[in-house]
Amino acid sequence: MCKTICFLVLYGDMKKKLLSGIQPSGTIHIGNYFGAIKQFVDLQDEYDSSVFIADFHAITTLQDKEELSKNIIDIALDYLACGLDPEKVCLFKQSDIPEVTELAWYFNCLTTMPYLERANAYKDAKAKNKEVNVGLFDYPILMAADILIQDADVVPVGADQKQHIEYARDTAQKFNNTYGETFKLPEPLILKEVAIVPGIDGRKMSKSYKNTIPLFGTDEEIKKAVMKIVTDSKEPSDKKDPDTCNIFALHKLFLKEDDLKNLRNRYTQGGLGYKESKEMLLKEILDFIRPMREKREMYANDLNKVRTILADGAKKAKLVVNEKMKIIRDNVGVNI
Ligand code: TRP
Repeated sequence: MCKTICFLVLYGDMKKKLLSGIQPSGTIHIGNYFGAIKQFVDLQDEYDSSVFIADFHAITTLQDKEELSKNIIDIALDYLACGLDPEKVCLFKQSDIPEVTELAWYFNCLTTMPYLERANAYKDAKAKNKEVNVGLFDYPILMAADILIQDADVVPVGADQKQHIEYARDTAQKFNNTYGETFKLPEPLILKEVAIVPGIDGRKMSKSYKNTIPLFGTDEEIKKAVMKIVTDSKEPSDKKDPDTCNIFALHKLFLKEDDLKNLRNRYTQGGLGYKESKEMLLKEILDFIRPMREKREMYANDLNKVRTILADGAKKAKLVVNEKMKIIRDNVGVNI
């Protein structure tokens, strides 16, 4: 018994610390699930994981009180439904740890404007003539604070976020050079897109292309999206090429190898219409999400439980953060 506990304690200590933030930005779709969330859930055993809802980051672009609160709850429900296990992962809300904004301030005072002007997200916004608020301009520094305040070893992000991790590393180094060794340098864990999930028009599934299949839509919404998948105009009796078919590309996410092989044969032999293929896909999707949907409903009917999960997560995160902030304030010189 004692041996087991010792082993667990030791093993627990050996796990690397993983941290990631998710922006609460509305309805998630099948592309989000297979492109990111799933891998994320798969990592929760391997690492000492913390995942937080980046609501401070969201208000750089969303300043509607009702919508923000709803999005925060929704993203918590989505992740819990998709399998994020609060027993394994410390799940919390960024705004419950306001110390990150204090740390971001210390970092701001070490950061130059030209350095932040080189950030891709900022350059994109400028190129589109968007008005950039100071919060959005400072986005990478707040993100650096999120990561460094927790001494994270690895940060799983999509390839588009890699520059942000470089900003966090640079900022840690700047602080260490100025005030003495304080932060470790985090590593990015770039999630391979296991599948580039195509949208209903064949382009990458993305909210901005309006070609998504919602993960937690109603049966009707999902059906509507599936039936709109773009195909060529072959007749049911025609032979078809599965490898250029948008419906088949989506079947690949849901079918087991054998079933996929059978379907491939039906495509190449002719006799399978696109309508039938879509109906099969719809069933696969609905079967797949049924247990997740049930879990989501269970949590949605008990929002206090969700609030408790987030509050417990924040409490746990605070233990680490409070210790770290003591050292940081000492090193900056505001502790007298
Ligand atoms: N920028 C991330 C995104 O848009 C969200 C985020 C905020 C984050 N802070 C973070 C991710 C810290 C990882 C670590 O998805």
